[in-house]
Amino acid sequence: MLNHVYHFLQKSLFSMDAESAKNLSLKSLRLLSRYRLLRKKVYKKAEPIKLMGLSFPNCVGLAAGLDKNGEYIDALAVLGFGFIEIGAVTPKPQPGHPRPRLFRIPEAQAAINRMGFNNKGVDHLVRNIKKCKYKGIIGVNIGKNKNTSNADAVKDYLHCMQRVYPYASFITINISSPNTENIRELQFGEYLHDLLARLKQEQETLRGKYAKQVPLLVKLAPDLDNEEIATIAQILLNNDIDGVIATNASLQRTGIEDLPNADKPGGMSGRPLFPMSLAVVTELCRQLDGKIPVIACGGIVSKENAEQMFAAGAALVQVYTGLIYQGPQLIKDIAML
Ligand SMILES: Cc1cc2nc3c(=O)[nH]c(=O)nc-3n(C[C@H](O)[C@H](O)[C@H](O)COP(=O)(O)O)c2cc1C
Repeated sequence: MLNHVYHFLQKSLFSMDAESAKNLSLKSLRLLSRYRLLRKKVYKKAEPIKLMGLSFPNCVGLAAGLDKNGEYIDALAVLGFGFIEIGAVTPKPQPGHPRPRLFRIPEAQAAINRMGFNNKGVDHLVRNIKKCKYKGIIGVNIGKNKNTSNADAVKDYLHCMQRVYPYASFITINISSPNTENIRELQFGEYLHDLLARLKQEQETLRGKYAKQVPLLVKLAPDLDNEEIATIAQILLNNDIDGVIATNASLQRTGIEDLPNADKPGGMSGRPLFPMSLAVVTELCRQLDGKIPVIACGGIVSKENAEQMFAAGAALVQVYTGLIYQGPQLIKDIAML
């Protein structure tokens, strides 16, 4: 029923600026769920998927960035995800880039965004998690403030980690945003090793303090070659990282070169991203050899895409842009695999 409503409204939504349409969709969903006008979907596999000490009712999650502040958790839960990732959140609130900063490319089922970590700060997000009724798996995606240098980035990640730790099911270290200057340098060499070593140490302290193990995941960019993936994989293994999310949006424009909006700066997501994220997931799974689980994300717009990610070795998948074009049916199609 919700899927029919979504497709009925899609034309009107697509006539609006993309960010306004997103906000309107989220607000409408929240209203409908608050007044119980939507029946909550529960897609439960016969056997839950056990991973990183967590029990996932199904294999498909919401990717980070749709609910930056955790304001729509209960509304999104109605759609039947196996897990929901909120954020990215930073220590201090920040406005992000000026609008317009989200663009649809419907001819390719793609989007380009340069949101720039717009969020209301970690304390606001924590208040929202505390208020929500959803009892399922919540991941929190954490980043650094725009004005924090890479040399000081660890302080921002630690700050967010300490605040969200008691309330999160897992925490994602986002070092792959295409829209925060230089942040992707944190994926490499000493930066990555030092950052992860310090965050893992903190995880140990927080585990003792809260008597709770919260897995630490790292989210990677799709714009990595095999050599870079091999080096990163080794650093992830050396630091005993609990999981990887691959991938974020891409700086490339392959597949949309001549389409309207392709010239907008930012990260490309949706269907044309799929071959790139599949290549990264494939190589990453090969390098990690089952020692660290990989959550596949990027361009998954059909259940066939999800199947290809699982065949490449992914343990779970996440979707975002596919929802804009396919509506909530996409969640059901993948969850029932
Ligand atoms: C508008 C928008 C905002 C996003 N914000 C974040 C974010 O804050 N943190 C993050 O890790 N990824 C963010 N992403 C990336 C998505 O989580 C996902 O990795 C990417 O879009 C690829 O998946 P998709 O093709 O299914 O959209 C954002 C994506 C979009 C479209």
